[in-house]
Amino acid sequence: MAANKKILVLPGDGIGPEVMGQVRRVVDWFAKHRAVGFDLNEGLCGGAALDKHGTPLTDETMADAMDADAVLFGSVGGPKWDDLPFEKKPERGLLRLRKEMDLFANLRPAVVFDPLVGASSLKPEIVQGLDLLIIRELTGGVYFGEPRGIETLPDGTKKGFDTQVYTTPEIDRVADVAFDLARKRRNKVTSVEKANVMHTGVLWRQTVTALHAAKHKDVELGHMYADNCAMQLVRWPKQFDVIVTDNLFGDMLSDCAAMLTGSLGMLPSASLGATDPTTGRRRALYEPVHGSAPDIAGKGIANPLAELMSYSMMLRYSFDLGEDADLVDRAIERVLAEGKRTADIAEPGSSKVSTSQMGDAILDALDRLG
Ligand code: NAI
Ligand code: MG
Repeated sequence: MAANKKILVLPGDGIGPEVMGQVRRVVDWFAKHRAVGFDLNEGLCGGAALDKHGTPLTDETMADAMDADAVLFGSVGGPKWDDLPFEKKPERGLLRLRKEMDLFANLRPAVVFDPLVGASSLKPEIVQGLDLLIIRELTGGVYFGEPRGIETLPDGTKKGFDTQVYTTPEIDRVADVAFDLARKRRNKVTSVEKANVMHTGVLWRQTVTALHAAKHKDVELGHMYADNCAMQLVRWPKQFDVIVTDNLFGDMLSDCAAMLTGSLGMLPSASLGATDPTTGRRRALYEPVHGSAPDIAGKGIANPLAELMSYSMMLRYSFDLGEDADLVDRAIERVLAEGKRTADIAEPGSSKVSTSQMGDAILDALDRLG
């Protein structure tokens, strides 16, 4: 790898700094043992930034994010700031990052680690070995399309309406990400829409098909209606490698897929933007799916593995360090196999480790594997 890449670390609030603390130990381990060196710059975001600067994200931190090769994010928010108006809330910091970095592709993997097969609500044979990736379009579709609103009709009844809009460039760019990432995995993309009843679905299918023919023939492509996809996810999820879909269907299907794995403390995510033509760098932010967990913050019992898996995704998808990412994932699998569990994934009555003890166990496993 070329000279040090820049990572902006934004631990945020609540358990964010607690889980990030453990990931930083792993980052140090990689610098020492694998010569994976990053320049880490830590900043404030969310409530922490509000308390210090009166805004959930300063312009300086925003500029640092734009300048970084990747952003590693914790979580923001908490009861202390709940009564603030919407524009001032800690969550605005994250929304600003997503918007200004134009992070249009949201990656949500669903991976079942063997030792946690029992945590899923599905039968072991259905989820054992599961490793799929949902890519949700994040900046377009019905959550943003115009016109939208609520109107009062002449007869006094009301009409609520939203508009699903997609353009070919919006579809192309997210599908492009899906094909590129499938190549680093099992080489299969399932494109999901409702072309049977929606015009955006027809355009989505045509556009993905054309892109595939033009640039990605080496990747296997299938199409599926969204309602069927929901069924297939719980019937036989192992048929999928990469699923690419729009904002609304992706919202629901990614939550559905997440629960195939069992625990919120085990779910990472990535949000990717466009590749800068001059630097060749793709904007990217990695974060756990969970929030700041105010109910357990400060107790030292949060599960750091979702944040750690977000780091692993960063190695894989931003820096093409697949082997190093695999090493992180194997260390996680190893400590779970050895029975180490934070409270959220522990079976009733079994012993539990703290956040930092989980970090210790991961470092120990890396020493043995690396
Ligand atoms: P949450 O994800 O923070 O917590 C939900 C439940 O899961 C809690 O019982 C919590 O203790 C548990 N949990 C979450 N992560 C865990 C971990 N790593 N280890 C062990 N247990 C874990 O969601 P909630 O309670 O809805 O939101 C709390 C705050 O976080 C709110 O202020 C919310 O706005 C914010 N939030 C921030 C997000 C972000 O920064 N991206 C995402 C979701 C919520
Ligand atoms: Mg959701």
